[in-house]
Amino acid sequence: MVQQRQAGIALVGSGSARPTVALTNEELSQVVDTSDEWIRTRTGIQQRCLLPAGGSLAELAATAGRAALEMAAVEATTVDLIILATSTPDDLFGSAAQVQAQLGATRAVAFDLTAACSGFVFALVTAAQFMRNGVYKTVLVIGADALSRWTDWTDRRTCVLFGDGAGAVVLQASDRDRLLGFELHSNGALNGCLNLPYEAQAEPLAAGKTVQKGTYQPITMNGKEVYRFAVKRVPEVIEKALFHADLTAADIQWLVLHQANQRILDAVADRLKVPSERVVSNMARYGNTSAASIPLALDEAVRDNRIQPGDIVASSGFGAGLTWGAAIFEWG
Ligand code: ACO
Repeated sequence: MVQQRQAGIALVGSGSARPTVALTNEELSQVVDTSDEWIRTRTGIQQRCLLPAGGSLAELAATAGRAALEMAAVEATTVDLIILATSTPDDLFGSAAQVQAQLGATRAVAFDLTAACSGFVFALVTAAQFMRNGVYKTVLVIGADALSRWTDWTDRRTCVLFGDGAGAVVLQASDRDRLLGFELHSNGALNGCLNLPYEAQAEPLAAGKTVQKGTYQPITMNGKEVYRFAVKRVPEVIEKALFHADLTAADIQWLVLHQANQRILDAVADRLKVPSERVVSNMARYGNTSAASIPLALDEAVRDNRIQPGDIVASSGFGAGLTWGAAIFEWG
């Protein structure tokens, strides 16, 4: 069924930001027992950008947001809402308000949304609900993550995969809705496949009473399980979103997937019969940047004129939770 709406949205600008420091596979193989050959052939990743000591996630997110506002020719003071999709905020209370302050988006309400690598798609769809009911007219959606903060640099099964970055899109109210269809899912029963868990020790407080004192432990992942989940669920969720949009896979002009692994991208494109030149891939340069990866890839493809106004884009995020989702939209 085609999803019903009262008002529409248009995606009118994109931006991205990445830390200036890149770590190559070669350099990583000096840190942990791995090789450029293993990483490249299993994942497609050649290097990743890492937020240096003292770096700020909010600053990276604000840089991406500013670039998106500039492309859209939208003043920060006219933004109604900022949603920051992140799992790695500077502050566990949320970093979106810091982004709002840095942008000078004085009218905007801002909040964080956490859905790991699905974060951008979940945030885009959340933003669309505020716009379709007519409450907000101008929204900035940012995906930003610095998983390097929570990476175990002695664990070669995970540390080779992740990088840091940020990407953003500006949404504006429009008579014609360019978010054509979406579909979102979660399955907490598979939560143990991919975690960044809080680990508490008991701290005695008063007679017979304890509280928790601890910190987050580095990322753990069952790579094979996540791989199997992704190649099954991602084509399926895109097909469902296409169905809501009254489209088929043959209508996809650009496939912009979460950049987790080139083999996952190839398998999904193969299942949907999307030719490889229509699949946006930049993980060779950035690795898996979690919530940032889709808007970062989208922004690069918009800025080098691959994605043109009017093009149909199928995007899909998937990851911890487990969570997965797809959004089909017309760019511009
Ligand atoms: N360098 C060298 N050897 C390695 C490395 C490495 N970096 N990592 C693992 N190996 C070894 C293993 O020890 C193992 O050796 P063994 O057979 O002697 O025990 C061998 O390589 C194979 O290991 P597997 O884990 O079976 O490797 P696999 O082929 O499954 O590839 C990978 C691993 C790349 C992680 C893959 O499973 C994958 O991409 N999974 C999906 C990850 C993903 O998509 N995550 C997205 C979500 S992220 C988020 O939400 C935050």
